[in-house]
Amino acid sequence: MSAELCGVELRGPILNGSGTFDAIAARKAFGDVLLDEFPFDLFVSKTITVAPRQGNPPPRLWETPAGLVNSIGLPNKGLRGFLAEDLPQLGELPVPLCVSVMGFSRDELAELVAAVAERDEVELIELNFSCPNVETGTIMGADPAETALSVERLRPLTRKPLIVKLTPNATDPGAVAEAAENAGADAVSLINTLRGMALAPGTNRPWLGAGTGGQSGPAVRAIALAQVAEVSRRVGIPTIGMGGIATGRDAADFLAAGAAAVAVGTESFRDPAAGRRIAAELEAILRDERGFLPAASSERTAL
Ligand SMILES: Cc1cc2nc3c(=O)[nH]c(=O)nc-3n(C[C@H](O)[C@H](O)[C@H](O)COP(=O)(O)O)c2cc1C
Repeated sequence: MSAELCGVELRGPILNGSGTFDAIAARKAFGDVLLDEFPFDLFVSKTITVAPRQGNPPPRLWETPAGLVNSIGLPNKGLRGFLAEDLPQLGELPVPLCVSVMGFSRDELAELVAAVAERDEVELIELNFSCPNVETGTIMGADPAETALSVERLRPLTRKPLIVKLTPNATDPGAVAEAAENAGADAVSLINTLRGMALAPGTNRPWLGAGTGGQSGPAVRAIALAQVAEVSRRVGIPTIGMGGIATGRDAADFLAAGAAAVAVGTESFRDPAAGRRIAAELEAILRDERGFLPAASSERTAL
């Protein structure tokens, strides 16, 4: 099941969704067996920012009948802490590494991309655009023009592949993806979480410390599949599909909708080895349904 993403050879098409698998903590918990049985074919770091962040006030998670609403708020050590402490450990993983970055301005994004790109451990960079630009107040990835300006600024800083992570909370994610491609992005990934809310039972008040959060898991899968199909039709660069993938069948559906690779997020909270199980199930499906991919890609235009 080998795969290729933006020129990077992978042993298969299964990634993790940024922020949903802490490889450093998992190695502490499970030991080096994690490296022998690593659940993903490419590892995406949790999103880092220039300055260290505490994250949002607790509670930060609410379980729904088919997924989670989270308001984690990107706690991280900041760029310097990440480069000094986390990156050397992530560099020991047995698969290529993608670092996810988020900036609150184009200058911050440029600082992040330039610094991360210098490091040999890093093969790809994901730009998490689900964030407001503090200068304009616009969510970067919700607006095609804003996305284009950011990618144009970042493109000359590195030859490493730049993946734009799209937000589903946009009027037209396809237009944002086209803008990213035209500005020089090498791939797009989608979907990030959908804005959601939960009330603390019996209080009429929000459960999450931040008030609202992002819904993920099987509840968003149909929305994600539709957006992946739409975006894959509209761009020539690879798409990485995610949103509620919990089985090999789900992964096969996203590939059939046009994704070049898929990512597992919320399912890893239930089963940290989910990536491996999904890969095995996907392999069996692709073996059984020979001719499945070409058939599906001709169907794609009709989706
Ligand atoms: C607890 C949690 C933390 C997340 N943190 C990040 C993050 O740091 N950066 C990011 O781009 N996406 C983050 N996401 C979004 C996931 O990467 C993924 O896009 C989304 O959850 C949809 O996939 P899923 O339904 O398989 O979880 C997070 C999701 C969850 C549930």
